[in-house]
Amino acid sequence: MQIEIPQVMVPSMNTTHAEEVEVLSELAEALAGGDETRIEAAANALAAHVEEHFSREEDLMRTHHFPPYPVHKAEHDRMRMIVREKCAGWTTEEGRAALKRFVEAEFPDWLAEHVSTLDTVTAHFLSMHGVE
Ligand SMILES: [Fe+2]
Ligand SMILES: [Fe+2]
Repeated sequence: MQIEIPQVMVPSMNTTHAEEVEVLSELAEALAGGDETRIEAAANALAAHVEEHFSREEDLMRTHHFPPYPVHKAEHDRMRMIVREKCAGWTTEEGRAALKRFVEAEFPDWLAEHVSTLDTVTAHFLSMHGVE
């Protein structure tokens, strides 16, 4: 799975984003293969990774008193709800098709946009506060 995610000024955030693309790729492959045990594991892994990703950024923003924290947090919360719904709903035919669209297009598009806007601004601020 080829997704262009922009680099930000905090290396550990870049690592998290690269890992998320890996987890996403595994789910795309699982959905293409059709093995339900693998799909379930990969869907759970994506939901868990997104939570870890967002929580870590939110902890850093709170620790360093990033003023636009509520804006970034609200956008994470909006996507948290969608990820939870898509990753849990794959057991029906309709839900599986929706998860496939989400994994192949909607989430990659959102991630690239999110990283190039809110994460970029946040990383700039955090790097000035010594976060690596
Ligand atoms: Fe991020
Ligand atoms: Fe973010």
